[in-house]
Amino acid sequence: MIRTTTPAALAEARAALEGHVGLVPTMGALHDGHLSLIDVARRAGARRIVVSVFVNPTQFDRADDLAAYPRDLDADAAALADAGVDLLYAPDAAAMYPDGFATSVTVDGVSARWEGVHRPGHFAGVATVVTKLINQTRPDIAVFGEKDWQQLALIRRCAADLDLTARIVAGPTIRAADGVALASRNAGLTAAQRALAPTLHQALRAVAAGADPAAEADSLLRNGFASVDYLALVDAATLEPVDPAARVEKRVLGAAWLGAVRLIDNVAA
Ligand code: PAF
Repeated sequence: MIRTTTPAALAEARAALEGHVGLVPTMGALHDGHLSLIDVARRAGARRIVVSVFVNPTQFDRADDLAAYPRDLDADAAALADAGVDLLYAPDAAAMYPDGFATSVTVDGVSARWEGVHRPGHFAGVATVVTKLINQTRPDIAVFGEKDWQQLALIRRCAADLDLTARIVAGPTIRAADGVALASRNAGLTAAQRALAPTLHQALRAVAAGADPAAEADSLLRNGFASVDYLALVDAATLEPVDPAARVEKRVLGAAWLGAVRLIDNVAA
């Protein structure tokens, strides 16, 4: 596996990759959910796999959250080499945002609600870095997890609007046996909090089956969640709230805090 840390070195290494190229953008602290996206890329036709590991500062709305985000590049590199990845791109912030950097990509509509409200600036950071990663790598496909459903919708919109040439491919959420969605942030849960974590997925499934979101949010709070940012039935494409009877593809989105860890998850409805 080739390792690069600058856009110029990435471009050179990318030019040497022949055939259909898949990009899997990540922020590292890799788990089986990330590794599953590599398989998704291969199943979608990628013969060469590029994985980026970049903890993108512009998508964090709180400095303490950025500082505390888990990082282990050596372990990530070992896992990616094991998974047969061809190229690891791990730039630092100065390589991605050199002095004078002044551009931001904002995507209206899909970014207005939910994460957009609770994490101001987050989606502009995501859209900007994903646009850069795709432009720098020039992959045939770029793969993103369904776990961040609103992010996926935003990236699809952004790629269509800005004529990004990569096809956006979605990978299903990978869950532990008890239903908890795999996430790098889960590492911050205490054993007691981890034992409570499946109730978020259960609440989402209950809403998908017709339960009242407000009642399910109350039940999470009674069960020991510190707060619930949102729990909502939405149009899967526009992210606007919808009536359960609406004849559109629907999704239940939720984000809630267990102690200092924010869990985010979604299911089909
Ligand atoms: O989902 C993530 O890990 C990040 O938001 C992404 C897409 C890699 C952009 O930094």
